[in-house]
Amino acid sequence: MQEYEEVKEKMKFNHEEVKKKFMEGIDQLAKRMKKVKTKLAVMSGKGGVGKSTVAGLLAVHYGKKGYKTGIMDCDFWGSSIPKIFGVENKRPVVREDGIEPVHTDKWGIAVMSIQFFLPSPESPLAWRGPLVSGVIRDMLAKTEWGELDYLIFDLPPGTGDVPLTVLQEVRPNGVILVATPQELTATIVEKSLKLAQELNTAIVGLVENMSYYECPQCGHKEYLFGKGRAAEMASKYRIDFFLELPIDPALTRLCDSGKIELYEIDPFEFFLI
Ligand SMILES: Nc1ncnc2c1ncn2[C@@H]1O[C@H](COP(=O)(O)OP(=O)(O)OP(=O)(O)O)[C@@H](O)[C@H]1O
Ligand SMILES: [Mg+2]
Ligand SMILES: [Zn+2]
Repeated sequence: MQEYEEVKEKMKFNHEEVKKKFMEGIDQLAKRMKKVKTKLAVMSGKGGVGKSTVAGLLAVHYGKKGYKTGIMDCDFWGSSIPKIFGVENKRPVVREDGIEPVHTDKWGIAVMSIQFFLPSPESPLAWRGPLVSGVIRDMLAKTEWGELDYLIFDLPPGTGDVPLTVLQEVRPNGVILVATPQELTATIVEKSLKLAQELNTAIVGLVENMSYYECPQCGHKEYLFGKGRAAEMASKYRIDFFLELPIDPALTRLCDSGKIELYEIDPFEFFLI
């Protein structure tokens, strides 16, 4: 019984401590985010539609132009940002005043991911949503990005708890929605629009990924699932920017070998944010 009382006492203490830490974390997060000029979150309805690739290409777009750019991997269950940038063996430097993200070789893009803190890339992440939200919050509160022009967030797929928490706490300037042609339906766009609206932000870009394949012999574009869907959705939902991203084996190869920075095509050339 005495033991029980002790535990109870301890838990009470911890509870207050946790609450205090939590509030401090929120403050710290807000302070750090203030030093970032533009924050863009990349979202998708489903996994495996090319969300991380698009987030990576967007970061490369800014990095290449000389902007101070960072990318935050918030997709704990499908973490792939360190891999496509070839930095999975680097480690962030942990200092008293914060964690220094790793930097990519070519354009010096700052990268942060839970992956860096796990013992091996294969570590199973059987964590539940609320815990993940807490870890992301903690990472965001502690990462010292410094002054950044652009910070890109690779969100987990869907419109559930974790994407919502990140969006709520980061308050991005805009959301970019990625979908494959099959996934690019009114339902998914509406769901994402609703989430963005709830957070007082907007969908500033719509990416139809794997939209077509360009024949390397004659340059003919084959739209395997029909043409014009991205344009149609963008106009229907008043999204300023849309993009049809082709299936490009060269892009797959570069991502697989950690060299996304060497991709010569900039699909975001006309994205003016
Ligand atoms: N336009 C494209 N052309 C060729 N390959 C692509 C293209 N987009 C994505 N891929 C490839 O498809 C695979 C899945 O892409 P990616 O990891 O970006 O998807 P994701 O939506 O982030 O998935 P997850 O939900 O697992 O995080 C990767 O191997 C990537 O290299
Ligand atoms: Mg991904
Ligand atoms: Zn051809």
